[in-house]
Amino acid sequence: MPSDLFPNLFSEFKLGKLTLKNRITMAPLTRQAAEDDGTPDDEMAAYYARRARGGVSMIFCEASYYNDELSGIGYLNQPGIANAKHVAAWKKIVDAVHAQGVYIILQLVHAGRVADPRTFYEGESPVAPSATHSAGAVLYTDTDEEMHNRGLQPPWPKVTFPPARELTVAEIERIAEGFAEGAARGMEAGFDGVEVHGANGYLHYQFIDPKQNHRTDDYGGSAENNLRAVVLCCRKVRDAIGPDKLITLRLSQDGVDDFPGAWPRGVEYARELGEALKNAPIDAIHWSSFGWDDNRDPNSDVPLPKVLREASGLPMITNGGIAEGEHAERAIAMGAADLVAVGRPLFAHPDWPHIIRSGEPYNWIEFDRKYVINPSYDYTYGYPLNLKVPRDWDPDFENRRRKR
Ligand SMILES: Cc1cc2nc3c(=O)[nH]c(=O)nc-3n(C[C@H](O)[C@H](O)[C@H](O)COP(=O)(O)O)c2cc1C
Repeated sequence: MPSDLFPNLFSEFKLGKLTLKNRITMAPLTRQAAEDDGTPDDEMAAYYARRARGGVSMIFCEASYYNDELSGIGYLNQPGIANAKHVAAWKKIVDAVHAQGVYIILQLVHAGRVADPRTFYEGESPVAPSATHSAGAVLYTDTDEEMHNRGLQPPWPKVTFPPARELTVAEIERIAEGFAEGAARGMEAGFDGVEVHGANGYLHYQFIDPKQNHRTDDYGGSAENNLRAVVLCCRKVRDAIGPDKLITLRLSQDGVDDFPGAWPRGVEYARELGEALKNAPIDAIHWSSFGWDDNRDPNSDVPLPKVLREASGLPMITNGGIAEGEHAERAIAMGAADLVAVGRPLFAHPDWPHIIRSGEPYNWIEFDRKYVINPSYDYTYGYPLNLKVPRDWDPDFENRRRKR
């Protein structure tokens, strides 16, 4: 039933073969909370079930690896869907979310040149569309306070990315097969679909970003060619999971090693990508950003998800800084979204959809890093209000260090 306050947001939407009860989905959020061998644990089931109970219509799970070939694992304690043990563990999560009448989608990723080198086998190097070298470092999601609490002495350790080597065509194809095998295992676990990760700085984003893809073969040089590797993944995933399950493709113009990043020729390039995706074997595009209407193109201010939606003719799931009902309602009303994906607000407020629908004011609690990395408390009850801060923690430490 639509709400009076937000008639678009709380109306049904048919996406592929699924009927969603409202337009609010949960964005994928990496937490590095799996066991060391990539097995999702019961805490993750509680975490996802809690957000399902909070009123979203569909959940995108955190980026997961599908095998350990070609140095694709991105993070320590990243969940995998690479073997039967992983499948059995995901099944518990999927069942817990389904029990709340909510759909759940598996996100698959290869991290490319921004893979954490501590996940590599000996002698391996990162792979990328072209031989490039990320200037970034592995993201530490721990705060200074957490580092301190774990007994680490400053300066905190920093893991930089090694130079990446260029993938061969046979390897690009093998990676697409890996996605399909992971997707098939996802179906065994009961997922309602698969999201192919082409965003946020990881391998397929690296193909799509003209700044990183210098190939002169079929996999580089134009919007259509830059998309070829990711579309191949989508096609193989479609063959593996059949026509009834959902496939979404996540896109962004910035990444974890380049947060202010923008596509050269922003809007124009987005339009070319959209047109090239017109007949792709996907049910929707999923836009990732930290501000849904932030297009970073000096020549135009039209939101990029609107450009992609119009050029592709595909449903659009739009994300980034949607913390109030008005933001989502505006994105849908102006044709920049069919669905929205909400990330950080749902970390802190599992009941975000219910809160928004009620129209009650709420206290926006900023994203807090304590939601990630092996949390030491129970997520079942939402925001943890009783965290203990050790007495000897000096919050001014960062400032003191800078002054020295
Ligand atoms: C801690 C954290 C982990 C994230 N992990 C993922 C991920 O696994 N896959 C992905 O596609 N995006 C990931 N993102 C991006 C979010 O899905 C989303 O695009 C971003 O948080 C902006 O949306 P928001 O303003 O609603 O939080 C992550 C973001 C954060 C803050």
